[in-house]
Amino acid sequence: MSSSDLQKEADRSDFQTIFNAIENAATDSPKLRERRPYQIDRQRSCEDSMMGEFVNQNDSAGPQFLESLKTAGSTEIVASPSKQLTPSACKQLTPSASWGCHASLNQNPMVVEAWETLRKSIVYFQGNMVGTVAALDLSDDTLNYDQVFVRDFVPSGLAFLMNKEPAIVKNFLLRTLGLQSLVKHVDCFTLGQGVMPASFKILHNPARGTEATIADFGGSAIGRVAPVDSGFWWIIMLNAYTKATGDYSLSEMPDCQTGMRLILSLCLSEGFDNFPTLLCTDGCCMVDRRMGIYGYPIEIQALFFMALRCARRLLRAEGGGEGFIGMIDKRLRALRYHLRNYFWLDFQKLNNIYRYKMEEYSHTAVNKFNVNPESIPDWIFDFMPTNGGYFIGNVSPARMDFRWFALGNCMAILSSLATSEQSKAIMDLIEERWEELVGEMPLKVSYPALESHEWRIVTGCDPKNTRWSYHNGGSWPVLLWSLTAACIKTGRPHIAKRALELAESRICRDGWPEYYDGKTGRYVGKQSRKFQTWSVAGYLVSKMMLEDPSHLGIVSLEEEKQKSTLVRSTTFNC
Ligand code: GLC
Repeated sequence: MSSSDLQKEADRSDFQTIFNAIENAATDSPKLRERRPYQIDRQRSCEDSMMGEFVNQNDSAGPQFLESLKTAGSTEIVASPSKQLTPSACKQLTPSASWGCHASLNQNPMVVEAWETLRKSIVYFQGNMVGTVAALDLSDDTLNYDQVFVRDFVPSGLAFLMNKEPAIVKNFLLRTLGLQSLVKHVDCFTLGQGVMPASFKILHNPARGTEATIADFGGSAIGRVAPVDSGFWWIIMLNAYTKATGDYSLSEMPDCQTGMRLILSLCLSEGFDNFPTLLCTDGCCMVDRRMGIYGYPIEIQALFFMALRCARRLLRAEGGGEGFIGMIDKRLRALRYHLRNYFWLDFQKLNNIYRYKMEEYSHTAVNKFNVNPESIPDWIFDFMPTNGGYFIGNVSPARMDFRWFALGNCMAILSSLATSEQSKAIMDLIEERWEELVGEMPLKVSYPALESHEWRIVTGCDPKNTRWSYHNGGSWPVLLWSLTAACIKTGRPHIAKRALELAESRICRDGWPEYYDGKTGRYVGKQSRKFQTWSVAGYLVSKMMLEDPSHLGIVSLEEEKQKSTLVRSTTFNC
């Protein structure tokens, strides 16, 4: 087939989807789990479908779903349905609904401003709060920063949960669950049922009195990458909601149980892989552009581990056979062993790799992945302290990515993927390498930056990811919340306090930037958005956790007692 034939085929399949949807709409008695496109506005959806987006209008997602939305929204104060809150409406909300359980923070002007900013970012659907936009600063090209990103909503959702305002989280979980059941195409290709959107947007049509949701599953995203992290974050948020509220009725809804199973089915199916880790393309998570993280990126592996453990808590057992729970248990065991052994790097391990022999064959091989010691980058020898360690960025045949990634390491601590010794070592490293990893603005998303030729080859000359900028060694305030949680869990809140003070000295004055640039994170990022919602929410979550460390339970899982533990050493447990 020629490329023009392929394009025609793609166009046909888009139009077919829209046509079917319009046909179905007339007779539809839709249910959330019916695998059919929802009622679609013809003109709007033609454009959307061509862009690889998916429209779900007026939420025709079934009586059960609507009922639960009604219940979820019934306690909300809705200032202006289907609009973001105006600043004055936001002020009016403040006394009754802002920080019910954190009275002492009420006095802090920066906290007050942060709450006001967070509330301005709220998005409504049918009068109910369903998420927060990525950024309020839409002065330049909006791109997709006016959308609700699943990963970006996580700190917002945590802030609301900690503030005893769970309804927005419940609505968000149901809204995104509804989007999961859409049929998703990119050109001629249909994505897996379980894929969760990267982001969504509510379109209001005041003239027709309708509201529609458009969702992006990566089909419109720069680089066209499907978000692998969205489904994991969705499960993690469902667990956070359940732990914060004690309300299991949401996670026990058949639709939620199916949603979790669909997400995990994408990861638990058998294939050709020899490893329990998930094989991914570049840019499928927070680092959402090419940065050489393809393969088995630590961020995804840690989120996968966390999501499996959360699902293990929330999924109901099915009758007969090994079932899903058995599959989860097996995968958790293998994943834990693999990551603790092969991704972990400390001084001793580095020294071992430095002395590796090559070309070993058989089960007794020490250098299992045939990594050439010559490929160890120079910087790591000085960077590695005597005390301390971390999970490296990636491990695959003949390739170890020695870069340090913040989110993967913090999530490894929070999910108890890391042993307690490893968790302590990660914290030791952050303290020992404070200048490099925290500097003047917490926290480096990755370390070190790729420069010159390496940057050209690995990022494809990405002008946004120049050295010490954006994902390439940039500093992201949103990471404060996960750092704080990890510090509290390891009994080192003083580290989080120190980091928070650094952020507090500038972040509000600088207009809540998305990221900072430079070796020490001194400069507001080159193309950084201002009033980036997750920078605001990350700050609030960090602040509330330090004020009341019991909030940690919402996002942290204790180590499980292993039935049969194969002990290799004190730090590497299967
Ligand atoms: C950037 C970030 C991504 C985030 C999005 C919206 O693309 O790389 O992680 O979700 O902005 O804030």
